[in-house]
Amino acid sequence: MLVDEQIASYRQNGYLVLPGFKTAAEVATLRERAAQIVEAFDPGDRRTIFSTTDQARGTGDEFLASAEGIHCFFEEEAFDAQGALKQAKSLSINKIGHAMHDLDPVFSRFSRGPRLQALAQDLGLAQPQLWQSMYIFKQPGIGGEVKWHQDASFFDTTPGSVTAFWFALEDATRDNGCLWVQPGGHRTPLRERFVREGNTVRMEQVDAMPWPDQRSAVPVEVERGTLVCFHGLLPHWSAPNRSAVSRHAYTLHATDGRCDYAAANWLQRSPGFPVRGFDE
Ligand code: FE2
Repeated sequence: MLVDEQIASYRQNGYLVLPGFKTAAEVATLRERAAQIVEAFDPGDRRTIFSTTDQARGTGDEFLASAEGIHCFFEEEAFDAQGALKQAKSLSINKIGHAMHDLDPVFSRFSRGPRLQALAQDLGLAQPQLWQSMYIFKQPGIGGEVKWHQDASFFDTTPGSVTAFWFALEDATRDNGCLWVQPGGHRTPLRERFVREGNTVRMEQVDAMPWPDQRSAVPVEVERGTLVCFHGLLPHWSAPNRSAVSRHAYTLHATDGRCDYAAANWLQRSPGFPVRGFDE
């Protein structure tokens, strides 16, 4: 799938940009399906917010249940002081998570196939296991900031293996909150670990290494259809979206089945709902 230069670049920088990985039609099909899920979502009295700046907040039972389900989470800024939505529901959802890739046929098709399987092998995942899918809306005007973090905080394995697959479903620019990464930062230690104890979760510090200086960050501005792969230790962040256009993206997180998956990871699967790979 990848040529040697691309593999070398991934090892050097901790991320790799693959323009045109998905066709416009594939992207449109996934976007339509996500819109249907949001349309069918009746929040009732539930106001489950996903705080992008404090991920240990708003992580109640619904968050934990989403490990094996399809749940919609609101943007933190979606509600006014009276608790009413400031804009249409379709423009208020922060993300859908976290098992669409196993529960929804449209999402499953997008998330699997021989090209992704070959790519995962090239990136060193001999036995990829797809733990999580997220459809991220980064809504116009209210799309929340996601502070510097490493995805390995959420998917601890021994040895480390988690790899992110980030698909741009719309053009991602500095204006609408594209990813920013620290090239080479995957060679720095894991700073934090998101630990689950029973039905509670918390972020604990693992290493006092500070987050990168903004001057060492580079924006990953990409066109719709691009796949950005990145190493679990690569520090990255994204700015709030104050622009008039959304920045939809879809992400998958895979670990290597040869590694031990930590029992304290928040995302666990029941025996009847085993984690699968990129095979269709
Ligand atoms: Fe991330």
